[in-house]
Amino acid sequence: MTDRRTLITSLGAGLLLAAGPRAFASTAAGLCLPADCVTCGPTGSTTAGPFYVANSPAAMDINLLRMPGTPLRVDGIVLGGRDGRRVQAGARVELWHADSEGRYHPENSGDIARYRADEINLRGQVVCDGDGRFTFTSIVPAHYGSRRRHLHWRIVADGHRALVTQTYWKDELGTARERRDPVDRDPEACRWIDFRTDQGAATGQVVFVLRPAD
Ligand SMILES: [Fe+2]
Repeated sequence: MTDRRTLITSLGAGLLLAAGPRAFASTAAGLCLPADCVTCGPTGSTTAGPFYVANSPAAMDINLLRMPGTPLRVDGIVLGGRDGRRVQAGARVELWHADSEGRYHPENSGDIARYRADEINLRGQVVCDGDGRFTFTSIVPAHYGSRRRHLHWRIVADGHRALVTQTYWKDELGTARERRDPVDRDPEACRWIDFRTDQGAATGQVVFVLRPAD
């Protein structure tokens, strides 16, 4: 745990927390400059859970049904390559999560074609821009069961292994609930997002680093 907390502290001192929009600046060569990008190694993977729906809607705002809840915004960047520092323009990023009562829509899996439009919410996908960046807006998911508060992700980029993972709320790190979570027992530092409140919205940044396919 000591090593884990050291990592978190180090991350907090870096760019993920304090950096503004320029945090994800890149050079013409496509290298990520800021300290946060250097901090994150390959992103750890974990289960997709039982409620992954393939071919989710192309949407940046994934609260498609306008459910009530605290507004959420996540800005991110996808990196990869041999050195884990190459921005992945065109990477496809999928996000899905529970609503403000801890329910998924749908609480089921399969292809989206199985469902009516009014059964699909809080799930969607975007394509990273030329700097490997993406943004989602939604609402803050509630806890459910024995889980930490979490977001589910699936990220695909040419030449890289598909990544299925989850991210967490940094302010929950080390709490009794967090320690009880039976899934993903020791997530690395870069998957604990330091959400801040900005004009009533929970706003955070995340870095994903993909592994080359071979
Ligand atoms: Fe979940």
